[in-house]
Amino acid sequence: MLKEKVQIALNKQIELEAYSSQLYLSMASWAEKNGFNGSSQFLYVHADEERIHMLKLFHYINDREGHAIVPALQQPPFNFESIKAIFQEILTHEKMISESINNLVGICVDEKDFTTQNFLQWYVSEQIEEENMAKTNLDKLILLGDDKATMYMFDKDMSALSLLSTAPPTAK
Ligand code: FEO
Repeated sequence: MLKEKVQIALNKQIELEAYSSQLYLSMASWAEKNGFNGSSQFLYVHADEERIHMLKLFHYINDREGHAIVPALQQPPFNFESIKAIFQEILTHEKMISESINNLVGICVDEKDFTTQNFLQWYVSEQIEEENMAKTNLDKLILLGDDKATMYMFDKDMSALSLLSTAPPTAK
């Protein structure tokens, strides 16, 4: 059975993953509306992946005789300065998520809940990929500059990237 402190922290992480899904969905909508169809495809797929991250936590809490709580919806920003601003925000956001996962692992160690600590290793590894993905995309944008032809190339790249990750991981 989960200790109260661990369960509260896991439910807090559910809230963050749900917000991540909302945030990426909002970014996808902005990109779609502004002609960045490849980026929007990538962001829609990513929004689904964040929901899977949330569901994994749901099943884990309930499997351990806890109670996974559906969080209230928080509205994410819906206007963005540029596609570069979106990818900058993704990197900042993913760094915050990594910090939250690390804090969660810290709570498990303090509470001697080594089963949950072990379960969270999936998230620790996933965050390396998430931050790396965000940084690679941002670096590419910085390198390419802001002219229309290179932005078009970037957007095509994002479309190809989204096709690579259309098979989402399972929640269990
Ligand atoms: Fe679920 Fe992008 O962190």
